[in-house]
Amino acid sequence: MTPRTRSDRRIYTSVLVIGTGGSGLRAAIELSERGVDVLAVGKRPKNDAHTALAAGGINAALSTMDEDDSWQQHAADTITESYMLANPHTVETVTKYAHRGIEDLERWGMPFAREADGRISQRYFGAHKYRRTAFAGDYTGLEIQRTLVSRATELQVPILDSVYITRILVSDNVVFGAYGFDLRDGTRVTIIADAVIIAAGGHNRIWRRTSSRRDENTGDSFKLAVDAGGRLRDAELVQFHPSGILEPENAAGTLVSEAARGEGGHLLNALGERFMERYDPERMELSTRDRVALAAYTEIKEGRGTEKGGVLLDISHLPRETIMTRLPRVYQTLLELQVLDVTTTPIEIAPTAHYSMGGVWVNSDDHSTDVQGLYAIGEASSGLHGANRLGGNSLVELLVYGRIVGEAAANYSAGIVHQHRSREAIEAADNEVTELLMSDGTENVRALQRDLRNTMTDHGGVVRDEAGLLEGLRQLDELEDRQTRVGVHPDLAGFSGLAHAFDLRASLLAARATLDCALERRESRGAHNRSDYPDTDPALQVNLVWSADGTIEHEPIPPVPGEIAALMENVTQDGKLLE
Ligand code: FUM
Repeated sequence: MTPRTRSDRRIYTSVLVIGTGGSGLRAAIELSERGVDVLAVGKRPKNDAHTALAAGGINAALSTMDEDDSWQQHAADTITESYMLANPHTVETVTKYAHRGIEDLERWGMPFAREADGRISQRYFGAHKYRRTAFAGDYTGLEIQRTLVSRATELQVPILDSVYITRILVSDNVVFGAYGFDLRDGTRVTIIADAVIIAAGGHNRIWRRTSSRRDENTGDSFKLAVDAGGRLRDAELVQFHPSGILEPENAAGTLVSEAARGEGGHLLNALGERFMERYDPERMELSTRDRVALAAYTEIKEGRGTEKGGVLLDISHLPRETIMTRLPRVYQTLLELQVLDVTTTPIEIAPTAHYSMGGVWVNSDDHSTDVQGLYAIGEASSGLHGANRLGGNSLVELLVYGRIVGEAAANYSAGIVHQHRSREAIEAADNEVTELLMSDGTENVRALQRDLRNTMTDHGGVVRDEAGLLEGLRQLDELEDRQTRVGVHPDLAGFSGLAHAFDLRASLLAARATLDCALERRESRGAHNRSDYPDTDPALQVNLVWSADGTIEHEPIPPVPGEIAALMENVTQDGKLLE
């Protein structure tokens, strides 16, 4: 195919948002409500962005169920469970303003589950001191996405959800837009903007078993930010959720919400033992996510797993009514994918790569990055979760920082007097697309993506060690080399093959940052388990900040404010069995 059969398109806007999931939409809504010209672009249909998969709930210390709860306690739980790697200022911001996020959603029509007297219901999620997870069945993310799409539509926010962004446009470390192409017909799109917000998710699709679907969370945000001049923080800190399904192979890792355990589900090994007794007898199935995931991994590794290599999550003892009203997605998913009735039969599960706790380096005040006019938000960003994310915290983060980043970008745009644009930057972006389109090598992008996922699973998974990480990096060198010989063949169906090739490049960069930092973090902390360094090292109570040249800085973490510190529990490695 001739690479340049299309006409180019140029669009002008004040603020460009890349990503049409919850964080991107929330920021776009804020901008629009402030009267700022905004455009949101995404590579997936807006009604089906990854946020729609978020299941069990959203956290805010509303005290609707437990009146002793407070934002300070929510902050204390978040920092404790981050193994002291969360940025206290980010945590304070999110927990203090979480209620505003919920109020916004309520105002825009979000159908939260409610108690008989009208209070918003809140349930337990792992490692929260109180019930503070609000929900809509186990379709919470889907309902949030619907609510935000509906509000954005009311405000007439323009959303282009078939545009793939390949580059942020930068001149002298100042943003002036982004470049991409239309997935349907290959039309090149140059978007000129005062400010750009990256809201394009994380990188958990680069593991074999993952709760992300094909072609989402492929590390796009990381690559866009790094190419623009940004850095990444804590790329090695990836959350493995304990309960991903095993089958069918093409849906392996699909999530069974933590809500199943929150509602009283049991975890069993193949011997029928509730194995959390061994790891955290007090909190049992509602222990921290890193502990439950590692416990499941250990049971399987030590031969107490099922024949297929999993453990069992049993909710069959719960009232059918509870399952149908509070866990409807778990019921539907298992029926659809395995023809399994969870009201009678346990579910076979194993840890699944679920969430990028690190991400683009951002300033905790306003999520600005190293590049002027460039912001990052949601799973693309970093600072809130440290080494172990509390389930339900990411949905609230995107609401709180969506508002803040929207405001910051609006002010930044209003303050611009003149803008310098670089013709060379646009040409370089254009040439990059042309060159990739003309690639006619024999390497297959899908096969390389699969090989990368194998490498990351085998050498950068739940438990890591030096030899494995070095082997992972060696394999990554080979994959990067093979990537230069891919073939890209758009056809009448569209340009998704070109998008996959860009996804692959992003995934390779995300993998390198992950393995480099995992090697550098010579300790075990939260979700990062090093069998060769089983203890936490106080000297590594720092964030690791990775730059494109492979250097890693140790970034100190600010002190925790006294009123939060007073409510924190001790951070320990107890119950974390490592081989
Ligand atoms: O299990 C879940 O419902 C996941 C929630 C989360 O990751 O926040």
